[in-house]
Amino acid sequence: MENAVADGHRTENKGSNVLIPWNDSLSVGIQEIDEQHRVLVDLLNELHRAITEHHGSDAAIGILDRLVEYTRIHFSVEESLMRVLDYPGYEEHKQHHEQLIEQVYELRGKVGNGKHISFELLHFLKSWLTRHILEDDRDYVPFFLSRGVKASYEKRSWLDRIFHR
Ligand SMILES: [Fe+2]
Repeated sequence: MENAVADGHRTENKGSNVLIPWNDSLSVGIQEIDEQHRVLVDLLNELHRAITEHHGSDAAIGILDRLVEYTRIHFSVEESLMRVLDYPGYEEHKQHHEQLIEQVYELRGKVGNGKHISFELLHFLKSWLTRHILEDDRDYVPFFLSRGVKASYEKRSWLDRIFHR
């Protein structure tokens, strides 16, 4: 996947030009999920950098498109796990995902129609993402761990990384 991580531009937690510095307070305690959240955080930081360094609207739209695409992938992974593990909060969590996707699509549409990406918009995205991580996802973690999801992994396949094998 083309993203900040694959390009080797993972956001470093230094300097003031970082919208969301990654730190342990953003970890939910499951490495696979943390890695995916970190891709989303990196994309937002990349968007922030593109705005502050005036890379132009095409660059910003490209990053927003990758954000939308990766958000869909991440939500699908979470929803699949919830279904497989019979998570009781599945329906509610899925509804939150749908609202979040709708918000980011709406934003993408506005920007595509010429709306300027302001700092207000960036901060909206920042709280959009941190709320998902800190409020929604923290809820399922104890349940996932109790159902055998691994907190960390060494093996390569994503199923191996998620389940004890
Ligand atoms: Fe998540």
